[in-house]
Amino acid sequence: MTSSKTDRVAVITGAAGGLGRAIANRLAADGYRLALTDAASCSDIAAQAEQCGVEVFHAACDLDSGDDIAAFSQGVLDRYGRADILINNAARMGMQPIDELAIDAFRGYLRTNIEAPFQMSKAFIPAMTAHGFGRIVNTVSNSVWAPFPGVLGYVTSKMGLIGLTRALAVELGERGITVNAVAPNLTRHRNTEQVMPAEAFESQAQRQAIKRTATPEDILGAVAFLISDDAAFMTGQTLSVDGGQILL
Ligand SMILES: NC(=O)c1ccc[n+]([C@@H]2O[C@H](COP(=O)([O-])OP(=O)(O)OC[C@H]3O[C@@H](n4cnc5c(N)ncnc54)[C@H](O)[C@@H]3O)[C@@H](O)[C@H]2O)c1
Repeated sequence: MTSSKTDRVAVITGAAGGLGRAIANRLAADGYRLALTDAASCSDIAAQAEQCGVEVFHAACDLDSGDDIAAFSQGVLDRYGRADILINNAARMGMQPIDELAIDAFRGYLRTNIEAPFQMSKAFIPAMTAHGFGRIVNTVSNSVWAPFPGVLGYVTSKMGLIGLTRALAVELGERGITVNAVAPNLTRHRNTEQVMPAEAFESQAQRQAIKRTATPEDILGAVAFLISDDAAFMTGQTLSVDGGQILL
């Protein structure tokens, strides 16, 4: 945690969720001005972040709606006149094996997990370009490398988001904008505890070199690094924060 404030504005989607909340808290502690959004209310997390003495804008936005994205992004730019960092963290998650996955549901994963990050990026790239600085971080999932049954729609969309990350990085490098992804493993927080069986956390931990379940705080260092000046020469990458599953 640092105490220095910065003029940089960080936009975080999915800010009411388990990981989004932790990112918002970390970036507030690091002195960033924040723009938070989620389908759910971000009031409590905004109030918490403001206790760090930083400015916080927040507004609800359904990322499946282009109109909502346009209204939210305009709201951010009206408020701050800039947007330096975009963390595309919200996601549609769920489990349906192929026999139960209807095409509309499949498209739903693609819409929330690829189209929305695309649209959010498009909305903020002009402001980043104007400042000659930008950081886009997309939250993907380590499950793309080791899928398990039932995550077809989710994994396909997250792999697509890795493609977007890489292709966008190539287009934006000359503008001082980096685009990277962070890939966590199953991470324990209030929401995942509600939807995942207890055994899933234990079996995931056993597949890692570090045999415990990730917490949101485990992911924060990677995000903080990728948005920092120290990561200026790193783009198009997917950083696995997975307790060493890749080693096994
Ligand atoms: N928690 C894990 O185990 C885990 C593992 C790997 C990757 N991830 C990724 O981390 C990111 C954060 O996940 P999390 O664990 O905090 O999940 P979460 O469910 O706690 O939070 C996700 C948030 O996204 C929001 N959201 C979903 N669809 C939306 C939409 N259409 N419009 C607006 N908001 C929408 C939800 O309201 C929710 O607050 C996601 O991209 C997820 O895929 C999580």
